Formats: sequence, structure tokens, C-alpha cells
Amino acid sequence: MVKITFVEHDGTRTEVEADEGLSLMKAATYGGVAGISADCGGNCACGTCRIYVPANWRHAFGEPKASEAEMIEFSQDTTEGVRLACQTKVTADMEGMELGLPESQHY
Ligand code: FES
Repeated sequence: MVKITFVEHDGTRTEVEADEGLSLMKAATYGGVAGISADCGGNCACGTCRIYVPANWRHAFGEPKASEAEMIEFSQDTTEGVRLACQTKVTADMEGMELGLPESQHY
């Protein structure tokens, strides 16, 4: 299990423990993270699973596929380090990672 902490825009922190191979979106939603609504269910079609990856954790992510990059562009979120949680799988080297969440995804 890999421990990952999601930090809402208001500072609320939720730590989840996720299996390797699970998407970060599922890790968050299964863990009760409020700031990931994931309206399309992980099909790279809604942009409501955005996460902000701090610079010191970006090595754990590959380059975004074209579909992910297009969805981020469509969302008009230009925050540095923005990625889609549904398009990245949990790996062992994410142990202890902290990810930010956009205010617009807080319901
Ligand atoms: S869940 Fe819809 S784009 Fe990730």
C-alpha cells in the first residue's frame, strides 16, 4: 500500500492508502477525498479529477498523453503541475506524496 495525501484548497488533508496500479483518481475517491469529483468516471473527458503535483514529485509522473494534455487545456486550468488523477497509476515511488486540489472541484 502506498500512502498519498490530498490537500484541498482550504488546507483540509486526507491521507489515503492505495494499491499500486490503481489510478490516483480511484485512490482519492475510494479514500473519501471531497475535492475529486471525477464526473466522467475516469474516461479523460471531464477534467474534474485535476491535481496539482508539486515540483519535487513530478519525477513520479510520466509525460501526459495527448488526450490528457488536451483535456487539461480544455479545462483552462493553467496551474503549474496540473495533471488528471484518472490518467496516472499509483506506483511505489509515490509513497509519502502530497498533491494539491483546485478550489473549483470542492463541492
Ligand atoms: S475523471 Fe474525468 S477526466 Fe479524470
